[in-house]
Amino acid sequence: MTSYVVTGASRGIGLEFIRQLSQDSKNTVIALVRNAAKSEHLQEISHLPNIHVVEGDVTSVETMQKAAEKVAAITGGSLDYIIENAGGIYGADTSLADPSKDLSTLVNELKGNFDLNAVSGVITTNAFLPLLRKGTAKKIIFISSVIGDIQFTRTTEFTGIVSYGAGKAALNYIAQKYAIELASEGFVVLPLSPGFVDTSSTKEQKQDQPSEDDMKKFQDVTEQWAKSQPDWDRKPLTVQDSVTKQLKVIAAVGPEDSGKMISQNGNTAWF
Ligand SMILES: NC(=O)c1ccc[n+]([C@@H]2O[C@H](COP(=O)([O-])OP(=O)(O)OC[C@H]3O[C@@H](n4cnc5c(N)ncnc54)[C@H](OP(=O)(O)O)[C@@H]3O)[C@@H](O)[C@H]2O)c1
Repeated sequence: MTSYVVTGASRGIGLEFIRQLSQDSKNTVIALVRNAAKSEHLQEISHLPNIHVVEGDVTSVETMQKAAEKVAAITGGSLDYIIENAGGIYGADTSLADPSKDLSTLVNELKGNFDLNAVSGVITTNAFLPLLRKGTAKKIIFISSVIGDIQFTRTTEFTGIVSYGAGKAALNYIAQKYAIELASEGFVVLPLSPGFVDTSSTKEQKQDQPSEDDMKKFQDVTEQWAKSQPDWDRKPLTVQDSVTKQLKVIAAVGPEDSGKMISQNGNTAWF
């Protein structure tokens, strides 16, 4: 049996990792969620015998240590893969010099995004490291974002979602540090960008239809991002396609790639 923990598995990309990984009955798949009772999309598949649901908040040391104990009881003390997917945009994140935003709100967003997207990576990794050390695959995957990539920012001149980007940039740095520190133990550590992914079908709250103004803003943003990849069709990936591609990258990645962010395409084509 090969064991996987996926964090943020209640919906979106994390849920799709659980769905695809559980299709192989030789996999033991552990879905880590904040609230199992409220994870209604996960409940549609969690009856499968190789899926286990464990609760934990990735920003809380105490709950993640307890989660690691529960996972150890399921797997017999080891873990092969961890896919650290929980994360997202904390607050109404805009740009650094946005005149409509007061400084304390900006600082609050910076701290919230740092906790959720960077510190969470250390809490989760260190809580599960004793199990991962006893596993055979020794792969630690951080689901990151190109929004945290400095070269992408220079190329596209994109100023938005700055606090989230700073959190993911810090996560990429943390991943590189783990890659170096754990290399001699045979670990591969991968900050992986999932692409631009449509997760609307399992969104927490159903979104209203976008207004014409929202659509225009969205087109402007995708045009800006496309400066990094002019042949991109400007369309989001389906969550199924993104995860299928990411799983291929996770299977293929080796020590020579450890620490460096790549995309679902296995390179720096981000879309
Ligand atoms: N979608 C994209 O285009 C895209 C692009 C680049 C990177 N990403 C990254 O991919 C990952 C997944 O994104 P998504 O689009 O699937 O997001 P999503 O649909 O909003 O799902 C986010 C998941 O993270 C969980 N989560 C949030 N805070 C948590 C916490 N403190 N502890 C434990 N779980 C927590 C949520 O659980 P609850 O249900 O409890 O809230 C949910 O399961 C994120 O790290 C995101 O930054 C996404």
